[in-house]
Amino acid sequence: MFRKKTVLITGANRGIGYEAAKELAESGHRVILTARNEEKGLKAKDSIKGDVIFYLLDVTQSESIKHLAKFIEKDVGTIDVLINNAGSLFDPKRFEVNPDNPLDTSVEVLNQTLQLNLVGAYNVTKHVLPFMNKTKRADIINVSSGMGALREMGGGTPAYRISKTALNALTKILTAEFKKTNLHVNSICPGWVRTDLGGPEAIRSVEEGVVGILWIINDEPEVRGQFIRDKEFLEF
Ligand SMILES: NC(=O)c1ccc[n+]([C@@H]2O[C@H](COP(=O)([O-])OP(=O)(O)OC[C@H]3O[C@@H](n4cnc5c(N)ncnc54)[C@H](OP(=O)(O)O)[C@@H]3O)[C@@H](O)[C@H]2O)c1
Repeated sequence: MFRKKTVLITGANRGIGYEAAKELAESGHRVILTARNEEKGLKAKDSIKGDVIFYLLDVTQSESIKHLAKFIEKDVGTIDVLINNAGSLFDPKRFEVNPDNPLDTSVEVLNQTLQLNLVGAYNVTKHVLPFMNKTKRADIINVSSGMGALREMGGGTPAYRISKTALNALTKILTAEFKKTNLHVNSICPGWVRTDLGGPEAIRSVEEGVVGILWIINDEPEVRGQFIRDKEFLEF
């Protein structure tokens, strides 16, 4: 049976986050669409039919996350689903191995990537967790990438890869912490998707990219601590 949920999505003004916000709102859920740019966020919100609230959120700014938490406490109440989606790839776009220059990503870019893809998700989760009902079904969905899978780790884009491996570790840690509750924490990989990040050559549409997210939210499968693409499990 359909249960209307309140779903908070980070980085939802475009790409996979936007598509998830659109499909979830249009199917009857309440969506808190967050973005770090007010104009882009409001434009995205206005283009979606349904119950959508915009809130300004830069996941790399602690003050911004604290404001979000106050807003949830005062105006929202309970969050059923948190989607940690905001993320980017800042490394030089090298997808072939190069033993002459393997770590071609600077330390500054490594730090910048970890701040966004890992620390951002960690900090948002830390502040949203108190508002998640852990006795009723609740979900945290970390939007990860197959590029972070240790099992098939390749060369190139080390900062992005490491950030997603670490995000998967966060999924496992939270799964252990909440094993006696009804909070389910999973990583999803959207596949290679045509967005600004994925580029125009990517093989999947944004609709295909959100299949795993929608499955978890609408079907509530009894899965925890998994790495999921569509409805299938990947190896970490
Ligand atoms: N596309 C793929 O092939 C692919 C594959 C595997 C995993 N993923 C993952 O899927 C997620 C979404 O990627 P996408 O392809 O949809 O990328 P995208 O189109 O580039 O969208 C990224 C989103 O993150 C937001 N963002 C960036 N920095 C932020 C910050 N500091 N605070 C809040 N939001 C911020 C962007 O906002 P602005 O518009 O303000 O920049 C944008 O809304 C990422 O975590 C990515 O790693 C994507």
